[in-house]
Amino acid sequence: MFDDLARHAAAIRLKAYAPYSRFLVGAALLCDGAIHVGCNVENAAYPQGSCAEAGAISAMVAAGGRRIEAIAIAGGGGQACTPCGGCRQRLREFGAPDLPIVMVDEEGREVMRRTLGALLPDAFGPDHLA
Ligand code: THU
Repeated sequence: MFDDLARHAAAIRLKAYAPYSRFLVGAALLCDGAIHVGCNVENAAYPQGSCAEAGAISAMVAAGGRRIEAIAIAGGGGQACTPCGGCRQRLREFGAPDLPIVMVDEEGREVMRRTLGALLPDAFGPDHLA
């Protein structure tokens, strides 16, 4: 299952629109047996760019999904592309603290694995508003 996510993340990474940073990112998440993917989409007005994880989450929600079971993130440059702070919070909206987050390289090879709880401890989440 992680292999499949890693493959999808590495493949969609190549579709990224990142003319400014030239840092391509792909994300693939599992929800109800389906894989949803996203890539980063930058903008000439820099803050309007969006992350790969945000794209994958949008695809999941648009398909009716609400629960992320696992996610793979493919970056480049020989080190793990860990999700940015904002994306950690986005993942918390649809993922439990034990959500596995697998960072992979351009080829889909695993370079790091963490849980969401490890990357965003004591997170504020939907439960706080229940
Ligand atoms: N980026 C992502 O897509 N996901 C992350 O978790 C880290 C950063 C993108 C945003 C921007 O387009 C580029 O990587 C450089 O920051």
